[in-house]
Amino acid sequence: MMTLQFLGKTLKNPTVLASGILGNSKDILERVYENGCGLVTMKSIGPAPRDGHKNPTVLDLGHGMINAVGLPSPGYLNMENEWKNLEQRDFPLIASVYGGSVREYQMVAEFVCSKKPDFIEINISCPNSEQHGMIFGINRQSSHDVVSAVKSVINVPLIVKLTPQAPDIADIAKACEGAGADVICAINTAGPGMVIDIESRMPVLAFKKGGLSGPMIKPIAVRCVFDIYKAVNIPIIGLGGITTGEDAIEIIMAGASLVGIGSAVRYRGIDVFQQVADEMDDWLSTHQLSLKEIKGAAHKEKK
Ligand SMILES: Cc1cc2nc3c(=O)[nH]c(=O)nc-3n(C[C@H](O)[C@H](O)[C@H](O)COP(=O)(O)O)c2cc1C
Repeated sequence: MMTLQFLGKTLKNPTVLASGILGNSKDILERVYENGCGLVTMKSIGPAPRDGHKNPTVLDLGHGMINAVGLPSPGYLNMENEWKNLEQRDFPLIASVYGGSVREYQMVAEFVCSKKPDFIEINISCPNSEQHGMIFGINRQSSHDVVSAVKSVINVPLIVKLTPQAPDIADIAKACEGAGADVICAINTAGPGMVIDIESRMPVLAFKKGGLSGPMIKPIAVRCVFDIYKAVNIPIIGLGGITTGEDAIEIIMAGASLVGIGSAVRYRGIDVFQQVADEMDDWLSTHQLSLKEIKGAAHKEKK
């Protein structure tokens, strides 16, 4: 019922599995699709093998999660099994990539593109960049450079995933659009935050700090999507704390075309995608509205 067209692909509904939540094995990604997900994102793939941070890496705070997983990756050249299995698939796929320099992003994206995902997403929110530990996505020029470099070597639509740590996320989105991005995805985790165990007097996460996700960041995500929608003409995948159909409706009213779901998989199970799609359907039919009619609705002037 909610079938929609998105950059030439037919999606069964607007829900998207967020990157990094369920790994890269075909079996699990297929299960997500069978459980109602419209578009499935792989975990971010890096230029070289990387272990990620020591445990504990993820903590559930009830109203959301804090994580410092640290982008573990086998490296793009060590995924032959995954690529082989994913070659024949019945679901639309986003491959997510990251790098430590413009050249690394380009190299990984070019290789990943040869494995024929439907979309490539670049995660420009990771801190291990050439700019002395800064994040690509908080700087207009570095965002532009990485997007145009990747765009020049791939032949599938390019999604750019942004961080709410940018002082002006709409300005970064605009720079990405100018460099050739086809879609903006917002947001990656917020923060960073910290949780201290008062008995041991120590930060709980081994890495000490971590990114926040889940319901507590939804207002940040909604604000970011609202600002980006005003600034660009390309579609937005809105995510950050989306847990229910009503959350999804809210971020679409801010301007999202599709709705990403990450932490809610933990809170509601793997069929959260079908649950959210059904709840959206119910809300829309109760209000006799279509997805098209509510997209960006919050931008209309108050009467
Ligand atoms: C455990 C965990 C691992 C994540 N790994 C990645 C990743 O590899 N690449 C990426 O772009 N985002 C990653 N994210 C961020 C999510 O894709 C998403 O942007 C963020 O969690 C906000 O959405 P949510 O509130 O629905 O979880 C990760 C999030 C969590 C909680």
